[in-house]
Amino acid sequence: MKMLSPMTQLLDLQPLKNLLWTKELNRVWHDDDLIAQAVLFFVAGFESVSSTMSFLLYELAVNPDVQELAQEIKEHDVKNGGKFDFTSIQNMTYMDMVVSELLRRWPPAVAMDRVCNKDYTCRPNDKADRDFILRKGTGVMIPTFAFHHDPEFFPDPEKFDPERFSEENKHKIQPLAYMPFGFGPRCIGSRFALCELKVMTYQVLRRMVLSPSEKTCIPAELSTDSFNIRLQGGHWLRSDFESKRRRMKRNQ
Ligand code: HEM
Repeated sequence: MKMLSPMTQLLDLQPLKNLLWTKELNRVWHDDDLIAQAVLFFVAGFESVSSTMSFLLYELAVNPDVQELAQEIKEHDVKNGGKFDFTSIQNMTYMDMVVSELLRRWPPAVAMDRVCNKDYTCRPNDKADRDFILRKGTGVMIPTFAFHHDPEFFPDPEKFDPERFSEENKHKIQPLAYMPFGFGPRCIGSRFALCELKVMTYQVLRRMVLSPSEKTCIPAELSTDSFNIRLQGGHWLRSDFESKRRRMKRNQ
């Protein structure tokens, strides 16, 4: 058994524990546990956000109407004198709809797993003449991507349509049909990830206008040579600086 490093011993968690927990936790943390957590944070938090951002730029480029988000950003900028913070960015309604729809169409975590902790009887459908029993101890894969692309839950699933998440429509989404961050509070980085995505989108659209290039993969097709989702041939697009675009329009 490995000893805790001096740094870990310096972290006296008792006062925090008294504040936060009433239940006594007897877990002893070793260096390996801490390293594993740090690596998991890196692995779970890096590719997921970069892949989502690549798809977000793609969707913005091929759906110019969605760049009305740029208008919301401009209005927000004027209202807040060019500054933004965690709270103000959360109040951007259309931004939230765009990011939510992006995580619906392109969830970077395409599936998740669970282990069944008791026997569970499932009735496949009304016509089935026998039950399907999921035995305790069985590993179960839950195909998030397939749920998100099922027309029963999301009509016209290949359409990138932020309106699915508007105030008027979002109540129509079945709670367990949409799960980009999994079930329950397991993804410890979900709020951080949403904030990162919104801040990056804000900064990009404040300065640039995105459009497809000759190499942009239209219609979108997923590459089969990688475990993580990415587009066939890569994520190519054009980006023009907003000021350049305005100058070109003036000179036309
Ligand atoms: C768009 C970005 C992200 C997506 C879509 C995402 C999605 C997910 C999903 C689906 C799971 C599995 C949840 C479950 O089994 O119910 C998960 C777990 C996890 N995520 Fe994220 N994640 C993202 C970003 C992040 C970031 C930025 C961090 C950390 C800084 C992070 C840390 C974790 C950790 C530590 C777990 C494992 C939790 C556990 O096994 O108990 N994630 N994430």
